[in-house]
Amino acid sequence: MEYSHQPVLLEEVTELLIGKPDGIYVDGTVGNGGHSQAIGEKITSEGRLICLDMDSEAVRISKERLSSLSKKLSLFKANYVELAEILKRLGIEKVDGIFLDLGLSSYQLEHSGRGFSFSRDEPLDMRMDSDNKLTAHEVINTFSSDHLERILREYGEEKWAKRIVKTVEEERKRKPIKSSLELANLVIKAIPVSHHPKAKHPATRTFQALRIAVNKELENLKTFLDMVPFLMNKGGRIAVLSYHSLEDRMIKQTMLDWEKQCTCPPDLPKCACGKVSLFKRLNKRGIRPKTQEIHMNPRARSATLRGAERV
Ligand SMILES: C[S@@+](CC[C@H](N)C(=O)[O-])C[C@H]1O[C@@H](n2cnc3c(N)ncnc32)[C@H](O)[C@@H]1O
Repeated sequence: MEYSHQPVLLEEVTELLIGKPDGIYVDGTVGNGGHSQAIGEKITSEGRLICLDMDSEAVRISKERLSSLSKKLSLFKANYVELAEILKRLGIEKVDGIFLDLGLSSYQLEHSGRGFSFSRDEPLDMRMDSDNKLTAHEVINTFSSDHLERILREYGEEKWAKRIVKTVEEERKRKPIKSSLELANLVIKAIPVSHHPKAKHPATRTFQALRIAVNKELENLKTFLDMVPFLMNKGGRIAVLSYHSLEDRMIKQTMLDWEKQCTCPPDLPKCACGKVSLFKRLNKRGIRPKTQEIHMNPRARSATLRGAERV
């Protein structure tokens, strides 16, 4: 059960990421250790793999799974935005590869008991890092309607946000909304039946939005991408797997900006430096899983893998 998460685009990730088999690699979202196991097995005994996850359960699971990597491995319970400090503590200035596999693991969705799934009756928690204070319960029950609506629109691209929030407001005036199933049923009630999506649960977007807000997923990704250029050796590679358009848009745009980096002060009316590339993109369109992988692992259907190399 603990290894139930099937790593997505596994071969493509290791191929894209590992340019130097004796290099230093980072898996910023180790999860259940599927990708890390493959990366660890591909690098030589001189190589090193630094793994982080902000979920202590994920760290416990991957510690067990990756125990055979022993000397190559350093594993931390940490947010990936703390990577620069962790490298400093390890006496490492720059690395040769960084990998992120964003979003939730199947283990978190199905077995963590933290209300990530609309088909389970669990407390509305949704924290990946249980040391953080903000829970989905607090967001749903105490945030203003305007704020909630903005979250559903911006992070869930939910066009029924207004109606969902109105239904939530009416309910929370009566009593607090405590469980994931309660919330899922309110969303089902709020969206007209004729507009229920055919291929997914009507509460998919609401749950995605709440999870992103609770875990500050987009803020973390932005902070992280901003520091990546300073942490990579020449020839080092970054590979990022994302599962929805908000993340993918940010990754795609950042990689494009890296490629077309301009070093002029922002107040200059016109670029005077000529463009200086920080990275070259390794795949301009993004790699998508093949039909066979999606068939074996439906979770892979929305994945996009993008990579870039420090030049
Ligand atoms: C899709 S799973 C990774 C699965 C992993 N690649 C595997 O093969 O098992 C994503 C993981 O990223 C972690 N995560 C998400 N945001 C994070 C962050 N800002 N810092 C550290 N870990 C994070 C989650 O807790 C989760 O365990």
